[in-house]
Amino acid sequence: MKVLLATTKPFAAVAVTGIQNIIDQAGFELVKLEKYTEKSALLDAVKDADALIVRSDIVDAEVIDAAKNLKIVVRAGAGYDNIDLAAASAKGICVMNTPGQNANAVAELVFGLLIYAKRNFFNGTSGTELMGKKLGLHAFGNVGRAVARIAKGFNMHVYAFDAFCPAEAIEAAGVHAVASVEELYKTCDIVSLHIPATPQTINSINAGLVGLMPKNGILLNTARKEVINEAELLQLMAERTDLKYIADITPAADEQFKAQFADRYFTTPKKMGAQTAEANVNAGLAAANQIVAFIKDGIRKFQVNK
Ligand code: 3PG
Repeated sequence: MKVLLATTKPFAAVAVTGIQNIIDQAGFELVKLEKYTEKSALLDAVKDADALIVRSDIVDAEVIDAAKNLKIVVRAGAGYDNIDLAAASAKGICVMNTPGQNANAVAELVFGLLIYAKRNFFNGTSGTELMGKKLGLHAFGNVGRAVARIAKGFNMHVYAFDAFCPAEAIEAAGVHAVASVEELYKTCDIVSLHIPATPQTINSINAGLVGLMPKNGILLNTARKEVINEAELLQLMAERTDLKYIADITPAADEQFKAQFADRYFTTPKKMGAQTAEANVNAGLAAANQIVAFIKDGIRKFQVNK
């Protein structure tokens, strides 16, 4: 039974060792394809794989087609917009994610980025503090909840809107539930995005929404670049010279954002949210365990292409 670990952005060594141990103990074989730069390398490596572990690596119909023995793909992480679910389902391949395993890492980065933004990118001028500010969580899944937990330590006022999470569940976590997404943007000094990239959310963060934010608003994106309507955000930021956009996923229009808004725009050079040893271990080991449980016992918990 061949398990392929294919990661353009590799896990920490400690996570790879943990994955190796789980796969060895199961009597399977682990093949590693790390830091690959060409799709052809993945197409070649996946040919005889029975199981595949990936991160944000693109697993499209071509990859699925090339993988003649593939039974399961586990996205070691939360978002699975990089995997062609329909192509996998058509071939009876089970796709899973590892929800929550990297949530704390992303949530901690939210605050690293926020402090960097609130202190004017450490340029020596007086910034502002997080205490007492209104933080809006656009979606209240695992990451949103972890952000809320940390925000309370900063004495922030935390609000959330989630189209799929009832207000009672948000309130039960000690967070103010707002009635609409518009209200979230209207109310909050900072809005932190935690929505997945789906046909419904792609391009949905537009000028109509972000333009509702109060003066000196900060839009923080550790989710997906695709959810932003970049053309509208560029135009809005040109008009609203008080707004900041901070991203952990480089926008397609990075050059334009940089050129126009050097002091109000920041993006990490590579997506860093889940890039901690702890998150790598959590997500990587969960992925390996899920593969073993699936192959040995047919357990489909966390399957996303049902
Ligand atoms: C996720 O969806 O889990 C995060 O965006 C992390 O993605 P990564 O594993 O590619 O860093």
